[in-house]
Amino acid sequence: MRTDTAKSFYLKDYRAPDYLARTVDLRFVLHPEQSEVTATVSYERRKGADGDAPLVLDGDGLELVSASLDGKPLAGDRYSATPDRFTLASPPQRFTLKTVTRVNPGANTALSGLYLSGGNYCTQCEAEGFRRITYFTDRPDVMAVYSVRLEADAKQTPLLLSNGNPGRKGKLAGGRHFAEWHDPHPKPSYLFALVAGDLGSIHRAYVTSEGRKVKLGIHVQKGKENQAGYAMDALVRSMRWDEEVFGCAYDLDVFNIVAVPDFNMGAMENKGLNIFNDKYVLASPETATDTDYARIEGIVAHEYFHNWTGNRITCRDWFQLCLKEGLTVYRDQEFSADMRSRAVKRIEDVSLLRAHQFPEDAGPLAHPVRPDRYREINNFYTATVYEKGAELVRMIATLLGPDVFMKGMRRYLSKHDGEAATIEQFIACFEAVSKRDLSRFFLWYTQAGTPVLHVATHYDRSRKTFAVDIEQSQAPTPGQARKKPLHMPLAVGLVGSVSKQDLKAEKVTGAEDQGGIFELSQRRQKITFHGIDEKPVLSINRGFSAPVEIDYRHLDRELGLLAAHDSDLFMRWQSFRLFASRQIFAAMRSLARRKKPVWKKEFLDAAVKIAENGDLEPAFRAMALTLPSETELARLLGRNINPDAIYKARRALSNAVGEQLEPLRETITETLDLPDRFEPSGADAGKRELANRLLAYGVHADSETAEAALVEKFRAATNMTDREFAFRLILQEMQGTPAAEDAVTRFHERYRDDPIVLDKWFAAQAAVSGRGAVATCRKLVADDAFNWTNPNRVRSVIGTFSSGNPTGFNRADGAGYRFIIDAIRKLDAINPQVAARLLTAFRSWRMLEPERRKQAQSALRRLKKGRKLSRDSSEILDRMLS
Ligand code: TRP
Ligand code: ZN
Repeated sequence: MRTDTAKSFYLKDYRAPDYLARTVDLRFVLHPEQSEVTATVSYERRKGADGDAPLVLDGDGLELVSASLDGKPLAGDRYSATPDRFTLASPPQRFTLKTVTRVNPGANTALSGLYLSGGNYCTQCEAEGFRRITYFTDRPDVMAVYSVRLEADAKQTPLLLSNGNPGRKGKLAGGRHFAEWHDPHPKPSYLFALVAGDLGSIHRAYVTSEGRKVKLGIHVQKGKENQAGYAMDALVRSMRWDEEVFGCAYDLDVFNIVAVPDFNMGAMENKGLNIFNDKYVLASPETATDTDYARIEGIVAHEYFHNWTGNRITCRDWFQLCLKEGLTVYRDQEFSADMRSRAVKRIEDVSLLRAHQFPEDAGPLAHPVRPDRYREINNFYTATVYEKGAELVRMIATLLGPDVFMKGMRRYLSKHDGEAATIEQFIACFEAVSKRDLSRFFLWYTQAGTPVLHVATHYDRSRKTFAVDIEQSQAPTPGQARKKPLHMPLAVGLVGSVSKQDLKAEKVTGAEDQGGIFELSQRRQKITFHGIDEKPVLSINRGFSAPVEIDYRHLDRELGLLAAHDSDLFMRWQSFRLFASRQIFAAMRSLARRKKPVWKKEFLDAAVKIAENGDLEPAFRAMALTLPSETELARLLGRNINPDAIYKARRALSNAVGEQLEPLRETITETLDLPDRFEPSGADAGKRELANRLLAYGVHADSETAEAALVEKFRAATNMTDREFAFRLILQEMQGTPAAEDAVTRFHERYRDDPIVLDKWFAAQAAVSGRGAVATCRKLVADDAFNWTNPNRVRSVIGTFSSGNPTGFNRADGAGYRFIIDAIRKLDAINPQVAARLLTAFRSWRMLEPERRKQAQSALRRLKKGRKLSRDSSEILDRMLS
């Protein structure tokens, strides 16, 4: 264990390694409590490195059994070995080092390195888990060719997998057996993986565009093979798509995916052997919702796409994490957009960005897409690196256009194949093919914070000009007081206030019109549209062309017009949503004065129009009709947050909308023609979502028929989408009634033996808003089925409560904060990565109203005063308190 928890690493300190590993030969003798790892590594001093530089290898909690150099046992004065470092004094230019270490997979609850999950051995090495297995130059710019031999009990561990292609296998004495694997592609240590266990498998044959025959395998808990089909289907579609769209074909003879129940994140792209959190593999109509299916599809694609963007081309150092993550998220977003509805996918992605990344950018945990400093790298697998990172790639595609963008991608993929690259090198590829200077664009990677575009407009009726004045700003973030203006593509349209159609300008001055896209690069810019005959309504940042906030005061009437008529679906959604937020904020003001809220008829009419509009995709209508979440509203308010007041006002609007929609519910639902048979398609998912959204409105409006329909839906649901939806709504709306108790019992009886669905049972209860939530959660963590070592289970209660239940978590007396802090303290000793992530639920604590702010602060301070925390949690805590 590294004890120095306060040390920071800086991008500016990067130095190439003194020694490069060329080949790595690993032999694992697997036992649950004592596994032996023999690593035989050929090292070579890097050209230009200091001739008498020692070889310094990383370790983390290791126990050295023996070491030898070029076949001879090492004398004790030649090396030193501590749990976290192996140092070899003055090695030769080229040499082979053999070390034997011992690890205990059964005791590894941090789920990093080699551990047991569901009785099977598996590994997680990104970012720095390999050093928990053996001493090594555990950094991504050391790429080597790996050969692996696994030995284990033949009966208990029939399946032996590692990276690359399979080699020899056979029986050994004592009921043991072995298998060998060889990966011809040089890779960094974080992509190493092994799996050994007793699993059920499904296989499929795939032939790449280059004619390579690949055997695909998905391995899951025995008896669940019939839940792996959708993931396999998604994998095959991903492989085809990457060939067709990016020209990337697979490069090994086998590709395996293994699903494990204990996993710190979603999934991991180990070369040829992706390991997944099983909830992102297993699906059946009875157990998985439409959202689950869509996530499985997206994550399978994401990990597969890493084979090129991440594995073939990896990162020089962890500061460059967005090089692989932002790019790969962009690729999986595009894949899902092609598989489903592009417009709907864009809205979902922007919602996600706003829900997770914008608050990060606006609080104490703000950091650039490419950070320049960290204490614990695991804390930087963030929405900023992933989701904002993807937006930056998307902006490059918008700025350069699809053809030049693809040319740049092809250049990147061929020029840096086999390398550990940097963001500078990535951007240089696009500069080369476009002959453009992207240095100002590069600031997006180094400046933290969400830019705001302050917009003012002026329509001159006599001159027929419409001027749009734009000023950029970017608030200070930790360590960055002043920012420079950024280079971005901004999609702008004008919608006629009378014609309600896109207006075409005769000419545009102040910026070049590239098909409705305008480039900004100065702090202040003025774009003037000429030949505008009627008063226009500004439609700005269409399609969310740049990840910025727009500060412009549309009139409510204008928002209504855009919501109904904008040619850009994203803007329609966005405008209606903003309109809804304003209704809620107005209601908050009324309620604070003990007055009944009054709703704009224009808004309620717009809601009805969206609900009824059969020309719009059902999924779009459902998303538009989903009111901004309590958390989103809090973010928009920005300060002095009282979550109870937000809840009440939002709920009041929901009642009002419900009263409008309830009389139409049955008719609209009928026109949807809901399918009898469950298909996980985006189109069908949208229909179910809209029907359910309308039902929720009916229940919010206290309609007895809607309530009866809800209870019936829960009873008779034929898929998990409907059942979970009904379950959650019953728990929330019928709190304390026998119907709610009955639902809890029934759901439990039905799914108690399926951990993934049981997580939904836990989460649904933890999400019920209100004061009682803390007591509920205390009960849930005391349940026999709750356990602190399974991250999914922990997240289903602790994560749902702290991030998905604003009124419960932010209880005015601080009981919610104290509950979470106690949970984090306990969890930190078991699994620091997951504990640190849960701790980020406090990231917006400074925006709370004074009483809650005080409570949150004292809970955080209490955590700081107590027993010493892991490096992971203490970094997050210190940043939040500073
Ligand atoms: N690289 C993985 C991905 O984006 C995520 C990842 C990083 C991860 N560190 C991890 C997964 C630790 C599990 C555990 O797909
Ligand atoms: Zn990734």
